[in-house]
Amino acid sequence: MKVAVFSNKPYDQASFSRANSRHEHDLHFLEARLNIDTVALASDYPAICAFVNDDLSIPVLNVLHEHGTRLVVLRCAGFNNVDLHHADKIGMTVMRVPAYSPYAVAEHTLGLIMSLNRGIHRAYNRVRDGNFSLNGLLGFDLHGCTVGIIGTGRIGRIFAGIMQGLGCHIVAYDPYPDVGAKEMGLEYVTPAELYQRSDIISMHCPLNPDTFHLIDSEAIAQMKKGVMLVNTSRGGVIDTTAVISGLKTGQVGYLGIDVYEQEGDLFFEDLSNKIIQDDVFERLLTFPNVLVTGHQGYFTQEALDNIAETTLSNIDCFENNMACGFKLNPEYVVHGK
Ligand code: NAI
Repeated sequence: MKVAVFSNKPYDQASFSRANSRHEHDLHFLEARLNIDTVALASDYPAICAFVNDDLSIPVLNVLHEHGTRLVVLRCAGFNNVDLHHADKIGMTVMRVPAYSPYAVAEHTLGLIMSLNRGIHRAYNRVRDGNFSLNGLLGFDLHGCTVGIIGTGRIGRIFAGIMQGLGCHIVAYDPYPDVGAKEMGLEYVTPAELYQRSDIISMHCPLNPDTFHLIDSEAIAQMKKGVMLVNTSRGGVIDTTAVISGLKTGQVGYLGIDVYEQEGDLFFEDLSNKIIQDDVFERLLTFPNVLVTGHQGYFTQEALDNIAETTLSNIDCFENNMACGFKLNPEYVVHGK
């Protein structure tokens, strides 16, 4: 099948080209991010492949449909960038890769926590500069901490197991509690109780209307003073302005984020020679207790290989009219399950 692959990077092209030797689709790699200005590039492609910051809102879906596209394959798990109701209405099939390496994201979350707690990112720079002072690098034992997990799906549960291995107690909130998670010893509580008891809070829920700005000033006010907040899910689950206020008062003691509300204008590009116009983002970078990575939680070789293989298999299913469990329907917008 002829497929336009948007937001392509060299590492995507490498993993897709390798996997495509088993599928033989006609892949056209485009660097452009998909949006209303670039959608014309997809003319006459029956399928397009999109990533996390490609725009699949109503106007873009309409143009895609007018130009003959009938399949959108997302090479990611999250699908908050797609208007699924509209896609369904106009008969556009949307598929995703629900799981490719939950370990990658869970392990990256641990990396953020370890770095923030012990100031490893700061120590790296200090030591290279001949500064061996320990002032400002005082950490705390993770052993014995209470970790609050919001969203106990694939990634949340693996992250829970990792933190249990370090001797942490896990409290969790999920509107759909998981039997396996309970058997692991996770204690399901209300969001309010989770905020009050957790030393570290980690977000692993999808972005949907229920979770948009779930962490706002009201939620932050209920948290322990000095809480560590970590978000590797989607930027919109945290109200960044509220978190900045919390950081200024010390209510939020540490912030680790791999995702950011307005990341579409920043992440995945080398902007080191540009003047960044996002003042909220730039303010975040001024805090010594904030660590930002640019949506790299998923970025392991295993994950890239699984993403390519599943995406190409999704296209096979569509082309051969086979049922596919990875097809998204509008109900996902509400429940995220
Ligand atoms: P999943 O679908 O397995 O789990 C999500 C869990 O969140 C489900 O158990 C669901 O019931 C729960 N949930 C739904 N609404 C909720 C709410 N209002 N409050 C609390 N929990 C709620 O998804 P998975 O694979 O664990 O991924 C989690 C999120 O991680 C994804 O939605 C995606 O946004 C993000 N992600 C980030 C990556 C990165 O590179 N940083 C890579 C892959 C995923």
